[in-house]
Amino acid sequence: SLGQSSIKLEPSAKDITISKHIYGHFAEHLGRCIYDGFYVGEKNDSIPHANGVRTDVIEALKNLNIPNLRWPGGCFADTYHWKDGIGPKAQRPSMVNNWWGGVTEDNSFGTHDFLNMCELLGAEPYLAGNVGSGEVQELADWVQYVNFAGKSPMSDLRRKNGRQEPWKVKFWGVGNESWGCGGNMTVDYYTDIYRKYATFMLDWTNGAGLYRIASGANSADYNWTESLLKNIPGSLMKGMGLHHYAVINWDKKGSATEFSESEYFKTMKSAWFMNELVEKNIAIMDKYDPKGNIDLIVDEWGGWYDVEPGTNPGFLYQQNTMRDAMIAGMTLNIFNNNARRVKMANLAQAINVLQAVILTSGKSMILTPTYHVMEMYKVHQDAKLIPITLQSADFEFNGEKLPAVSASASQDTKGRTHISLVNIDPKKTNRIRVDLGGLKASNVSGRILRADKLQDYNSFKMPKKILPVAYNKAKVQNGLLDIEVPAFSVIVLELN
Ligand code: AHR
Repeated sequence: SLGQSSIKLEPSAKDITISKHIYGHFAEHLGRCIYDGFYVGEKNDSIPHANGVRTDVIEALKNLNIPNLRWPGGCFADTYHWKDGIGPKAQRPSMVNNWWGGVTEDNSFGTHDFLNMCELLGAEPYLAGNVGSGEVQELADWVQYVNFAGKSPMSDLRRKNGRQEPWKVKFWGVGNESWGCGGNMTVDYYTDIYRKYATFMLDWTNGAGLYRIASGANSADYNWTESLLKNIPGSLMKGMGLHHYAVINWDKKGSATEFSESEYFKTMKSAWFMNELVEKNIAIMDKYDPKGNIDLIVDEWGGWYDVEPGTNPGFLYQQNTMRDAMIAGMTLNIFNNNARRVKMANLAQAINVLQAVILTSGKSMILTPTYHVMEMYKVHQDAKLIPITLQSADFEFNGEKLPAVSASASQDTKGRTHISLVNIDPKKTNRIRVDLGGLKASNVSGRILRADKLQDYNSFKMPKKILPVAYNKAKVQNGLLDIEVPAFSVIVLELN
């Protein structure tokens, strides 16, 4: 059967750019994200690499126009002492990664390795500072080490370690999940700590500016949001974080690949909750920061399931199906539509962890359905948002309802319009009528991501099972566009 939905573009509305940073990624020292993911070591002679970083991974991420990468955590960040990760590798002390599997961390991938890798990727680094177990001076030193061009103890040390010019890192997190793994702080305590740390994180960039990001709320903790905005001066905070994962139940997350329709519905419900979270956080921000100086940074999001059978439970390694493509397409539409405030987001995580875009196994690398959604959506990066109104058919399950369709639209600098459409209904095609709102277009082309089964995924045996293909069935006539979006599929259209 068919669902009926309608969309109207509002192209004349005021100028809002969809920041490319909404399409950001996250790389933690967790499981096989850094080690055996990005980094295979300088001495590896079986996998092609540049300074130990896999070249296939670099190419794949460059193809996403990866705008930024958050590092080194996550929970790990509040245990990380950056000075252990600089200088000759053989002399670096080790530590135990107590959050993630209790493995020994040899610090062979440190500040230089990460920041040089970001240069190779063409991505802006987003460093998460240690506020939980670190010291103010330690974080202040890190900023000076990576950002100062002049002569100072830290910049001299950087030069001694082989890097002349500073990297000029703009994005800095001041702690991570400070309400939880980052120190189990109350919001009042964190606020004071934040103010102190942020004060000593000086801007050593000579005007490029430091962009400090507060550790935001755990999902719907609006009191946390409100307290931060009330009590931290805007001069010390440019971004405010928010973390939300699409999860069925923290105690019973379920398999990543074998799930029922009921589990699918629950995952979609949790993913769609992002819309409410973002809107409510923005409403609070509008109250305390009516001029819009502070940005909302969703620096962790994605689907979270049980680990793949037989893998280390502390490594959070999971497969990635069409359900994940649905989460990605829907969530990115939410961010695009709220681009007025949402200026950055980081999918958790880039490789081999949670809702990864890339999975590796030895020499092999595969791209997940989530990767393909990110690739299809890259047309929205730094494009002008075209606001929409949307009337969606319902995706109904056991008497509960979710909107089946989500969408967003933008116009790029070449004047091309892109519309991304997601139909999460697992059974019904959705027929959508799009009123172009006066926008002149005579040609429409597109790509679709779909599969035979919701549970389908790309495996090392069948790495190309799910790939975007051309979609030519949309029609434009008299300012209207008609399209059928199949069950559980993502379509991105281009109009000109
Ligand atoms: O992404 C995995 C973990 O989830 C991060 O380390 C933490 O910040 C969050 O709880």
